[in-house]
Amino acid sequence: MTHLLINIDHVATLRNARKEKFPDPVMAARECLAGGSKGIVFHLREDRRHINDQDVMRLRSELDTKLDFELSTVEEIVAICCKIRPELATLVPERREEVTTEGGLDVLRAKKRLTNVIPRLFDAGIKDVALFVDPNLDHIDEAARLGANAIELHTGDFANASSTAAKLEVLSKLKLAAIRAHQNGLQVHAGHGLDYLNYSLFGKSMPHLAEVSIGFSVIAQSIFSGLKDAVEKMNHLVSGSTYEG
Ligand code: PXP
Repeated sequence: MTHLLINIDHVATLRNARKEKFPDPVMAARECLAGGSKGIVFHLREDRRHINDQDVMRLRSELDTKLDFELSTVEEIVAICCKIRPELATLVPERREEVTTEGGLDVLRAKKRLTNVIPRLFDAGIKDVALFVDPNLDHIDEAARLGANAIELHTGDFANASSTAAKLEVLSKLKLAAIRAHQNGLQVHAGHGLDYLNYSLFGKSMPHLAEVSIGFSVIAQSIFSGLKDAVEKMNHLVSGSTYEG
């Protein structure tokens, strides 16, 4: 069964918008876990626009759950990740000007840096290291060669596709990518733009899907129904949408 992990970055975005101490991302993480999230995802960006160093430290020390630490290959952040030792480290591309992560890593171009960073994350005691990738088979093969043991498939193009036909076209690529990753011995995760309307089609189309990482849609829904309820609703969709071939 696919596990749902909730990304809490946007709770920190809201806090930081007013330079306040609330809402507290750690308290939000507890609500997500109460709603059935199997772990907590956060992205410590170089510019600290949402989650900050203290949040990361508290998430580790105050919660007993799986942490998925999203990071770029920048030295300072890699060092923090090695110190925190999350259960999962997900390497993502990062550009200062972007509103959110805009696509997968170019694994071939980033090869030199990834060759250095991936073993360091494992050596620090992190069990799983994933690369966030587009459904590009060459990038998936390279992820396996570089020693990652998981990929997270970028689902933004699926989410943004404006018609069902266009969504199905992206899904066929994502499906082939998941099969290729599985053949390479990589765990398959996915995320970006998944929501209450598009999840069912996604979930039932994707083989080998171990984990999904969802943030924005759930945090947005929580304004209307509360965070625990918003997570429960998404969890219901994720656990009910099994691969149909
Ligand atoms: N996975 C990765 C690698 C991301 O960068 C993000 C966005 O922070 C997500 C998943 C979650 O995307 P969303 O907030 O659109 O659900």
